Amino acid sequence: MDELDQGMKKDEWKSRLGFMLAAMGSAVGLGNIWRFSYVAGENGGATFLLIYIFFILAFGIPLLLAEFSVGKAGKKDAVGSFMRLAPGTKWHWTGVMGVIGGTLILSFYSVVSGWSLYYLFHYLIGDFWTEPTGGFGQGFEDWTSSTWGPLIWQFLFMVAVVFVVIRGIKRGIERANLIAMPALAILMVVLAVYSLTLDGASEGLAFLFTPDWSQLSNPQVYLAAMGQAFFSLSLGISGMLTYASYLKSKDRLPAATVGIGVMDTVFAVIAGIVIFPAVFSFGVDVQSGPPLVFITLPSIFASMPAGGLVGTAFFVLLVMAAYSSALSMLEIPVAFFHRTLGLSRKAASILCGSVIFAIGITVSIGYGILSHVTIVGNKGILDSIDYVTGNFILPLGAMLIAIFVGWYWTKDQAIKSSEINNHSLQSIWYFIVRYIAPVVVLVVAITSIFG
Ligand code: TRP
Repeated sequence: MDELDQGMKKDEWKSRLGFMLAAMGSAVGLGNIWRFSYVAGENGGATFLLIYIFFILAFGIPLLLAEFSVGKAGKKDAVGSFMRLAPGTKWHWTGVMGVIGGTLILSFYSVVSGWSLYYLFHYLIGDFWTEPTGGFGQGFEDWTSSTWGPLIWQFLFMVAVVFVVIRGIKRGIERANLIAMPALAILMVVLAVYSLTLDGASEGLAFLFTPDWSQLSNPQVYLAAMGQAFFSLSLGISGMLTYASYLKSKDRLPAATVGIGVMDTVFAVIAGIVIFPAVFSFGVDVQSGPPLVFITLPSIFASMPAGGLVGTAFFVLLVMAAYSSALSMLEIPVAFFHRTLGLSRKAASILCGSVIFAIGITVSIGYGILSHVTIVGNKGILDSIDYVTGNFILPLGAMLIAIFVGWYWTKDQAIKSSEINNHSLQSIWYFIVRYIAPVVVLVVAITSIFG
């Protein structure tokens, strides 16, 4: 045991199921519902879905196992795990990048979560059951461009996240997910079944499941699919590494990893089944981008039988999914400040939560008084952070973790830490992590920058 660990109560997952639910909670989030639906909408639907599933199976799940292996072997936070496993090297910078990446992502994630919470509230009080005067589009714009409203809801959301993270793994994060995940699954299936009964359902399903092969030669679709795969699996910024560090040594990784990856994908597909039939049956543009979930869907709910209830259920789902993911993002910097820098969990949670909220303020008013500010290309503040983290920091982080496992560790060490028993699976996994994943990430990133 390291000196720092001594005197610190050991916090860990009570059961492997608890870990799996929490990791699924991390994976299934706004990414599966809000981001998946608009990115799939913009990138041709079925073709995108196909490439996305390919990336998940071929690289996402193997890399997820790599990240879990490092965390389980390192038994510490993003930075501390690398310091323990590779002392005297620069590898801990991978963890530092994760801490910064997690902080940045949560700063915009909490803004969108705040919007979701606000929508949920207005569904609960019956406000959004019918189209407001001026329409949902205008309403959304007025709301996001106002200063205080969104900040208050974002603040409430962050307080709720900090509240559970303070309580730690077993008593906080694990318990919250034990309730949220089954509820989420049930709601999602109910909504999907309902959506399938709508008139235009078949068109929506065709969009989602009948590929347009000409899109296969479009490099942009690959970048989008890869970014989405990493984002959705929470890969690359050591969030999954941190979660795995709280596992007991007897809890095995491989089957859990596959389960988590598959469930995350199933959730994304079901979210697509919820959203696209509705979008098509009401004849709206699938390419409406990030506002899809906040403008398009509410106007559909307003003209749908029992739409108020459906809308309420949908936003309960969105908020819960966002919440369980936000817990895992906050845990990245909190674990670092707590376990490596020695701050109490409470102080670390409040400190990190406040910093994230402060950055989030800029992101939020990026839709209002700072709406003229652009960072990357002509993208606003939120889109810029989303673009840079999703398309560069996550893939780069995932690539570094793959190189760590594939090249820094010996083959024996890597395979032992992966806990795969089957010989051929060991070889395939190792080959992907050592050779294919780093190269593919690099090629896709470069092509999309210069292509
Ligand atoms: N995977 C989550 C989603 O789909 C977002 C998320 C949670 C995340 N933790 C992360 C993304 C860590 C990257 C890294 O919404």
